[in-house]
Amino acid sequence: MESIIHLEKINYLNWHDVEDLRVTREQKCFLPDNVTSLAYAGIVREAGFQVFTFGIYKGDKPIGFAMIGYDIPYEPDDDLNEKYRFTRSSYFIWRFMIDQRYQGKGYGKEAMKLILDFVRSGPCRQSEYAWLCYDPENTAARKLYASFGFEEVPEAYSAEDDEILAVLKL
Ligand SMILES: CC(C)(COP(=O)(O)OP(=O)(O)OC[C@H]1O[C@@H](n2cnc3c(N)ncnc32)[C@H](O)[C@@H]1OP(=O)(O)O)[C@@H](O)C(=O)NCCC(=O)NCCS
Repeated sequence: MESIIHLEKINYLNWHDVEDLRVTREQKCFLPDNVTSLAYAGIVREAGFQVFTFGIYKGDKPIGFAMIGYDIPYEPDDDLNEKYRFTRSSYFIWRFMIDQRYQGKGYGKEAMKLILDFVRSGPCRQSEYAWLCYDPENTAARKLYASFGFEEVPEAYSAEDDEILAVLKL
């Protein structure tokens, strides 16, 4: 069955669509607002990395946002990057959110399917892995990612950022 959700690349015409999307007050600690994320995507691109920013739409209604980066270093430290080699030449999914008005309706799951279809299509090049990070207390995100087969890498837990890293073999 065709998804009622679709992704649109953010550009200078549609970026206002995601500007006012909000998570709940309790979820604000998990990610910055979308305009900050768009600014950050620009900085990461300036540093020479490929980043895709997507609006998530139900019909013509914007309901969410996500970013996908390619070959983004997990840590500035080269030794750690060597240890977590799957983070190199692979896709990093981050800043994924569904606006609070649309949560709990299955749209996050639909959107993640589309994000993984995009990643599997190899927009930069074919890759073996996708990975992401999340706060261990973010039960909704943790369960959603696990349902897609993301596996946690316990030794990569960052106490400083309070984030777990999880990886999916594509
Ligand atoms: C995580 C998020 C994107 C999920 O979006 P959503 O549209 O509400 O999710 P769905 O309705 O598609 O639910 C998908 C799965 O997520 C999990 N889930 C969603 N809401 C949940 C909740 N309140 N409690 C526990 N699990 C939950 C469930 O496993 C659910 O599958 P199931 O219904 O078959 O059990 C959304 O909660 C969100 O935007 N959170 C704030 C931003 C955020 O934390 N992003 C992640 C940063 S790493």
